[in-house]
Amino acid sequence: TSTPATNITWHNSSVSVQARAKQKHQTPMVLWFTGLSGSGKSTIANAVEHQLLAAGAHSYLLDGDNMRHGLNQDLGFSAADREENIRRIGEVANLFVDAGMIVLTAFISPFRADREKVRARVGDAAFIEVFVDTPLAVCEARDPKGLYKKARAGDIPDFTGIDSAYEPPAAPDIHLHTNQADIETCAQQVVSYLDTHGFIR
Ligand code: PPS
Repeated sequence: TSTPATNITWHNSSVSVQARAKQKHQTPMVLWFTGLSGSGKSTIANAVEHQLLAAGAHSYLLDGDNMRHGLNQDLGFSAADREENIRRIGEVANLFVDAGMIVLTAFISPFRADREKVRARVGDAAFIEVFVDTPLAVCEARDPKGLYKKARAGDIPDFTGIDSAYEPPAAPDIHLHTNQADIETCAQQVVSYLDTHGFIR
């Protein structure tokens, strides 16, 4: 086990986050996508990024599968590991916000308390929770990676929606129904929200 560092002091930069973001005509913030595996988080977040790019905004997408190949490669899917996964992503997202960017995150992030901790870390005004609301039956029918089949067969323990909980947002800032609207329409709903709330201009 390692010992936490002592004698470290936080340095405030003299370049403000507002100054960093100014040229880009955007207000730095986090678009936090949450939903079951196969709900469409990554696909919609990707489509949003394309639309933001076209609108001249500077954004970056942090994706679950990708982060688990690098920064979070030491973590599995126990409740404790998921909590740590989301905590680290929250810290990284917070850095991107400080860099003046619009950051999109696509993680199952199944536990409400963990998402709320990120909201508190980033600041309520800059944290927009996007619920990718796709029923379990639909995700399971899609099964893009064949993981639900494996989980049902008992080959993947602690699989979200099967034998590990998913706690849906009680009051998401943006609520997407992917079985009623296509990808581009869902992405447009997100970008419209950013527009009407003054995050992009
Ligand atoms: S979490 O719960 O937020 O920490 O998960 P996340 O980092 O988003 O990783 C989810 C992706 O990992 C794959 N996978 C699993 N998901 C859920 N439960 C278990 N046990 C599991 N094992 C592997 C799966 O491909 C998820 O990808 P998405 O894109 O969500 O479908």
